[in-house]
Amino acid sequence: DAPPPPGPPSFTGLKLVNDRDHPWKPLRKGDVRGPCPGLNTLASHGYLPRDGVATPTQIVNAIQEGLNMENTAAILATYLGHLLNGNQVTDLLSIGGKTPKTGPPPPAPAHAGGLNVHGTFEGDAGLTRADEFFGDNHSFNQTLFDKLVDFSNRYGGGFYNYTVAGELRYSRIQDSIATNPQFSFKNVRYITAYGETVFPVNFFVDGRVTTDRKLSMEDAASFFRDMRFPPDFHRSDHPVSNQGVDQVIAAHSWLPGGNADGKVNNYVVDPTSADFEHRCRLYDRVVEGVVGLYPSPTGILKRNLIKNLQYWYTAVNVSLGGCTQLFPFGQL
Ligand code: HEM
Repeated sequence: DAPPPPGPPSFTGLKLVNDRDHPWKPLRKGDVRGPCPGLNTLASHGYLPRDGVATPTQIVNAIQEGLNMENTAAILATYLGHLLNGNQVTDLLSIGGKTPKTGPPPPAPAHAGGLNVHGTFEGDAGLTRADEFFGDNHSFNQTLFDKLVDFSNRYGGGFYNYTVAGELRYSRIQDSIATNPQFSFKNVRYITAYGETVFPVNFFVDGRVTTDRKLSMEDAASFFRDMRFPPDFHRSDHPVSNQGVDQVIAAHSWLPGGNADGKVNNYVVDPTSADFEHRCRLYDRVVEGVVGLYPSPTGILKRNLIKNLQYWYTAVNVSLGGCTQLFPFGQL
């Protein structure tokens, strides 16, 4: 059965993580990588299985150990990904595309397709990944990275910081409105799109730097493109999550929505979407999504769905605060 998520590690301080036990290695045939530079890097250093297929327990442990993500945030992100894109029977998730290594998927519409599946966790207006509409939603995109560099030059003196994050977030939304007729920016994607912009500052800056946290372009390329810790990299000296996100949100207020009727420059706000005033809608929408994937589960599949939803809710409730728990598959 799906085991409960790990708690926080006993030591959560500063540590060399690009160490002898975790050497970077190039991809082998069949290794899977995806849209998340954090998970990609952890896999390429062996904090995660190097093939890119892992259990939620392995993912929580890896992001805590390798990048010092705070326990509740680690569970929140991991089980969100696992519930939407993982295999609930084998307890395995691909950090990229679909692979037979996660085991036989439950009957359709379930797909166990991995983190690359668009419109689940992965979504539009990413920083260094293009929109699904343009054909590749998960690979490092040099043109978009050049834009990140340009914005870091213009707003951060050559470094990526929270100010740059606020400007780049807004500009990537405008890019998608102008060019992607299928642009969707609501619910899970709306919330995560803001969170992911501060992660490079909170997680990819060496933990020995304690004031004026800002990411050099060399180190940014190392994580985003090469999936590699910079030489001698130390993780944050305390557990972190989405610190700074309020600054990014405040820089340009923007409501959830999308381009309507398959037309560019036709952004329409969706008042029913989750937003920062209605965070529990994120929980509601994900549970609806899971029910959509598993309309009538039985046996071990049903047990694991009940358990994984329970584990996720526990973290949701701590981090979003006071959401009403839903029991679409009953309780154990
Ligand atoms: C995207 C960092 C944990 C799934 C991203 C991005 C960053 C990031 C910076 C934006 C990439 C871009 O737009 O170019 C991190 C860090 C983590 C972490 C530092 C932990 C310390 C996780 C976990 C999951 C996850 C646990 C799920 C199991 C994703 C997905 C995307 C993403 C699906 C793509 C979202 C999109 O469409 O842009 N992550 N992440 N990440 N991450 Fe992570």
